[in-house]
Amino acid sequence: MDIESAHRIQAFIERRDHWFAPFSAPPSDWPAPEQLSFGRYLAPLVVRARWSPAAGWSSRQIVPRGDVQVSVASGTVQYGLSVFEGLKAYRAADGSAHLFRPHEHAVRLRTSAARLGLPEVDEDLFIEACRDAVRVHEAFLPPHGRGALYLRPTIAASEEALGYRAAIEHQFSVTVMPCCDPPLKTVMLWAEPELTRASAGGLGAAKTGGNYAAGLLGQMRARERGFDDVAWLDAATHSRLAEAGTMNLFVEVDRTWITPPLDGTILAGVTRDTLITLLREDGLRVEEADLALEELARFERAGRVGGSFGCGTAARLVRISAIRGPRAGVQFRDGGHVLRFSRLLKQAQEGSSDSHDQWRLRV
Ligand code: COI
Repeated sequence: MDIESAHRIQAFIERRDHWFAPFSAPPSDWPAPEQLSFGRYLAPLVVRARWSPAAGWSSRQIVPRGDVQVSVASGTVQYGLSVFEGLKAYRAADGSAHLFRPHEHAVRLRTSAARLGLPEVDEDLFIEACRDAVRVHEAFLPPHGRGALYLRPTIAASEEALGYRAAIEHQFSVTVMPCCDPPLKTVMLWAEPELTRASAGGLGAAKTGGNYAAGLLGQMRARERGFDDVAWLDAATHSRLAEAGTMNLFVEVDRTWITPPLDGTILAGVTRDTLITLLREDGLRVEEADLALEELARFERAGRVGGSFGCGTAARLVRISAIRGPRAGVQFRDGGHVLRFSRLLKQAQEGSSDSHDQWRLRV
């Protein structure tokens, strides 16, 4: 961060005025939206609240990102006691900014926190913190159609103590990451035959680091074999498809789009839910049902399988060309559907069509 930006941030923090925009433009060396990719460039400020058993959540503060720290001796680092969300803010064609489906993300964060015994953040704090995070970084929000601000609301056990118990200090923070508009990629997945991401009664439906930690080796193994990512199978039988890497999965069989059911072992994706609605409105059949890879391979031989895609907030939609494993594999044939779905979703997210106004909350 250059000196000028640091001074502006300091002045902004001293005013403690959430409506005063500290930046008129990003720093001069900030990349064009198309070069932002995902994950690399973080915005300078973080919105934070602190929790204690007596006082509950404090009011929101806006602080430089470097000021939000968690000790190596915290429950977050030692025991994985943290949960998070990923949602995006977009710029509409009229230049205004909005959050996409923040209520659904607030509800999911609460559900994740409850599963890990962390204090829950109510919807009002969640939404106002996300709004603050966008307002103060409005200058970093790419133009309409060219990207978004990815927000990472996180609850973390921050007490410095090594005992295995619920912490008595927690932090809620919203980190902001300007990102590009994700291009539609095509990927091949390796169906991991030994490792599992989650099992019944576990953490699979919670958005928490433990699930991503459980998944990384699978992703590495898939890449070593020349695949782009891993397809997770169910823990009990290693036969049914669960998730595609860090995304929910859809497969077309007999002109019906099938996605694995929310059985507690997979993430209840907000993008998954959005697509179920958009596809049905488009006149397509969508079902939540189990899909065994070997069965899919048989369907493919009978000419019953069409396209497939993975979806999530970060990636939007990713076309899947094949899923292969040691026992069975399937090749998908997408007749242009996935590109159309991706466009429908982008329009809904960016507000380029009037439909589903209730999904977009003006910042
Ligand atoms: C998201 O799509 O928001 C995710 O959380 C994926 C992330 C692990 C990059």
